[in-house]
Amino acid sequence: MRFPLIVTAVKRLWHTDLAADPVAHAWALNLYRAGERHPQTVADYFPANDAPDPELAGLLRRHQADEERHTKMYAALIEGLGGRVLDDVDDGDVYNHQIRQAGGDTFGVREGDSPNERRRKLGHFLLHAHFLEARIAQSVAWHKDACEGLDSGTGTTMAPVIARVQEDEERHVDYTARWAQMLLTGREFHEARDLHRRAEAAANWRFSARQCRTWVARHGQRPDRRALYTACAWFMERMAG
Ligand SMILES: [Fe+2]
Ligand SMILES: [Fe+2]
Repeated sequence: MRFPLIVTAVKRLWHTDLAADPVAHAWALNLYRAGERHPQTVADYFPANDAPDPELAGLLRRHQADEERHTKMYAALIEGLGGRVLDDVDDGDVYNHQIRQAGGDTFGVREGDSPNERRRKLGHFLLHAHFLEARIAQSVAWHKDACEGLDSGTGTTMAPVIARVQEDEERHVDYTARWAQMLLTGREFHEARDLHRRAEAAANWRFSARQCRTWVARHGQRPDRRALYTACAWFMERMAG
């Protein structure tokens, strides 16, 4: 989950540069929004009806409602920047897709699946969501910091909106891991946790490298930083393998 310190420093800087340019900022917020919207485009997220406990069912439904609300919050921010809200940003380049490609289909429930199989798949869904949410929470934290700088310099009011998203994402990180551990046996949990951790890590290097190159090619308003971001993209591509 952790980046080398130099990559963390470059990513923080990248968020500041993104936020400084309204066109690039709207593009980045559309990427966030695409991830928030992903559950609305598939049938296998938030399987509350398969939850063996009403508390977990309630948490899954609340999580689903949170992500739908975040979609609207990001749309409002994009429009506030004068940008266009895009349902299909960069040909459907959605982070969730990248993770799912790396991890395979581990949680799609099929008709005829036994209660035990549904329990196991729900555990996998929770761990898929856990590692995704942890990455999003980190990214959103950096983005909130960048927006705080922007707000104090320009009078915009974006940081409090991002802070509300961050709060929800941290709650999602927490309950998904807790309930996966309760649902799965010890061995199932460790195997599933390793699988989803590796899938997210691989997807992250690939996705970040690609977005970094897109930024340099399309949005790089800071020619003085081109070499730095290009080197960072190169490094992330090597890490992705
Ligand atoms: Fe979200
Ligand atoms: Fe979330």
